[in-house]
Amino acid sequence: MKDASPQTIHLADYTPFGWTVRDVHLTVKLSPRATRVVARIHFAPRGDAPAQDFFLHGEELTLLRAAIDGAEVTPEITPQGLTCPVPDGPFLWESEVEIAPADNTALEGLYMSNGMYCTQCEAEGFRKITYYPDRPDVMATFTVRIEGDEPVKLSNGNPADSGAGWAEWHDPWPKPAYLFALVAGDLRNHPGSFTTKSGKEVELNIWVRPGDEGKCAFGMEALKKSMTWDEEVYGREYDLDIFNVVAVDDFNMGAMENKGLNIFNSSCVLASPETSTDANFERIEAIIAHEYFHNWTGNRITCRDWFQLCLKEGLTVYRDSQFTSDMRSAEVKRISDVIALRARQFPEDQGPLAHPVRPESFQEINNFYTATVYEKGAEVIGMLKRLVGDEEYYKALDLYFERHDGDAATIEDWIRVFEDATGRDLSQFKRWYSQAGTPRLSVSEDFSEGTYTLTFRQTTPPTPGQPDKAPQVLPIAVGLLNPNGHEVVPTTVLEMTEAEQSFTFEGLSAKPVPSILRGFSAPVVLERDSAPEERAFLLAHDTDAFNRWESSRDLARDCLVAMVTEGAAPDTAWLDGLERVIRDDTLDPAFRALMMGGPTQSETAQVLHERGHVPDPDAIWDAHESLRQAMAERWQDLLPALAEEARVTEAYRPDAAQSGKRALGSAVLALQTRLDGGKAAEAQFASADNMTLQLSALACLVQAGRDEAALRAFHDQWQDDRLVMDKWFALQIAATTPDKAPERTAALTEHPAFDWTNPNRFRSVLGALAMHHTGFHAKDGRGYKLLADWLIKLDAKNPQTTARMCSAFQTWKRYDADRQALMKAQLERIAARPGLSPDTGEMVSRLLS
Ligand code: PHE
Ligand code: ZN
Repeated sequence: MKDASPQTIHLADYTPFGWTVRDVHLTVKLSPRATRVVARIHFAPRGDAPAQDFFLHGEELTLLRAAIDGAEVTPEITPQGLTCPVPDGPFLWESEVEIAPADNTALEGLYMSNGMYCTQCEAEGFRKITYYPDRPDVMATFTVRIEGDEPVKLSNGNPADSGAGWAEWHDPWPKPAYLFALVAGDLRNHPGSFTTKSGKEVELNIWVRPGDEGKCAFGMEALKKSMTWDEEVYGREYDLDIFNVVAVDDFNMGAMENKGLNIFNSSCVLASPETSTDANFERIEAIIAHEYFHNWTGNRITCRDWFQLCLKEGLTVYRDSQFTSDMRSAEVKRISDVIALRARQFPEDQGPLAHPVRPESFQEINNFYTATVYEKGAEVIGMLKRLVGDEEYYKALDLYFERHDGDAATIEDWIRVFEDATGRDLSQFKRWYSQAGTPRLSVSEDFSEGTYTLTFRQTTPPTPGQPDKAPQVLPIAVGLLNPNGHEVVPTTVLEMTEAEQSFTFEGLSAKPVPSILRGFSAPVVLERDSAPEERAFLLAHDTDAFNRWESSRDLARDCLVAMVTEGAAPDTAWLDGLERVIRDDTLDPAFRALMMGGPTQSETAQVLHERGHVPDPDAIWDAHESLRQAMAERWQDLLPALAEEARVTEAYRPDAAQSGKRALGSAVLALQTRLDGGKAAEAQFASADNMTLQLSALACLVQAGRDEAALRAFHDQWQDDRLVMDKWFALQIAATTPDKAPERTAALTEHPAFDWTNPNRFRSVLGALAMHHTGFHAKDGRGYKLLADWLIKLDAKNPQTTARMCSAFQTWKRYDADRQALMKAQLERIAARPGLSPDTGEMVSRLLS
């Protein structure tokens, strides 16, 4: 158990560890409740570190013996680690500890999942395996010997040697302990191979539980594409003889980039057309790429301390989004990323959990694997690239790899590389790393005698601990269209640095229509009261796909706000403009599907809040419902033709072209269901031969309340497939009406297949409730109470997943006084829980502050 009073750690207090570690030799003798870990580590004092006691992290370890240079020692042990007097010069540290992986329900350190041993060490899990300076700036080579009867025994690096009951691995690349991994079990592999551009042969494997062999082919192809892409785009080659990927069912996060041995949540790697949706395939491709790309951005160059997390995560998310843009449609990827950013990062940045991309203090680092560090961190890199241009960006990246290979680096190092490579002063740009909150950008325009002027103003609202904000560098991509709809000024990046700043365009014959923030060139809230006609004009004519989509989104938001606050009818002018885009069969079906999507209900709540209204979830539900109904009725004649166009006749492929068609088809089916009560959906459900079609039909049937038989059939068909069953659980909550959502959730927690200790299953039920906007916010608070009950229960087993899911409450201050009081009461109930984990404790106290 950790200390009851959690410590706050500050970036400003960084001090290097007093010793370097030359090498680590581990022997792990596996046993479910009595695994022995023998460590032999060579330490040498470093002259450039301040004097300090020799302290090794260690938690939940039973120390059996310790020795220095062969002589037994008796260290002083606390719940956090040990201290011990050590010689002045280099020495050999030896220790033997016992741990119980079968009892490890937190899924951090060495644990068991379905009889298989596996590890998760990022951020601070290695200290649950052995005593060690568990910090990312201590890097060492590892040799690992695994002893056990399991047929497959894996660790990082290259296989060194093996025999009956043992296997040895050696990783020649110095690495921090958080990249250590070990896997052992009865696993099957899907093999592959890759030849790097310099001719090195690499053995590839995806390791899975028996029975899952048929779900690996797609992941393997994605891995090879990622390897090729990183060579071509960033000039980065793989650096070991073997690359192993393992699928694990019980995993707190998506996946982990351990050196040469990536471990994946099985939901993020296993795929087949029958069991996975198009969205699953795309996500798997992106996550495989993400983890693979970490080999350079994260592993070869790692982080000095956990405050620098965005150094590896922001950059790697940026790289995986570039990869997806290249593999699929860049426009569709950009729009999807912005939808996700607004749905996940904006609420964080605008609520009590707001923190900078590089936080300055934390209690529990696990609570900072956030949308801000990851997604906003990636946006910051996108802005940097927009400002310096592609060529300079890749020049800077080359310098980064050359200068920092083998380092545990900082954001300062990263910025300096860009300054040195491009000759720019980036001191103001660096505020993106230290200032939390989403900047608001407003615009006014002026036109006289051929000169067009855009004047921008930026302000950032206060965030916890940061009352005053300074202006940030905003790359604002702008294009100008003339009144005929022709582009007269192509996309230009304006570099805004002041709180208020004007930019002029000369030689225009008529007042142009501006297309501002093309491609969402900076992660800001653009506050622009432009006339609906102008938005409709951009919807029809903008050459920038993102802004075309955005102008419709803006109109949709205005329409929904008017419907909620004034009881207005749906905006028919907008629906007409939207219809023209949807009808345009020269446009990518995936893009048209996104156009049909519209804002989510929590986005409408956010917009209402931004505009000074108190969002009423029930009124929002009603407005969304009547808007969808109006769309369905209005487009009654169009829908069958679109459905026909969306039909895929060739064999299933999860590529961009086919998925786009199916996305359009499912948007159409959802509207059709409002007209035919579910007839078309029933037909599609009965004939579907892939999960995308089957699931979208089932969603429609749930929505229409005609789901009993279909849910039963789906259950009977898929009860042995845990990943599909996660969808079965989630969908019946996600797609149902608000009155039923809490009851269904409660009922599903009683289902025999509700294994709540499995994070995927827990999220598929309680996470689905949290995401059902109106259902979660049920007026009497039963949604809040149900979630809180389960968070309290899960916290005792798995603090990390519990703490992450507390963010369901992060928007609580947006709502009416009654709902606020109900949510606050639940947060206080969680906070008051005796024995609450520090992880959840920190989250709840930040939420309440
Ligand atoms: N580093 C992992 C990634 O982004 C995420 C992760 C963090 C996984 C902590 C597990 C634990 O790829
Ligand atoms: Zn990552």
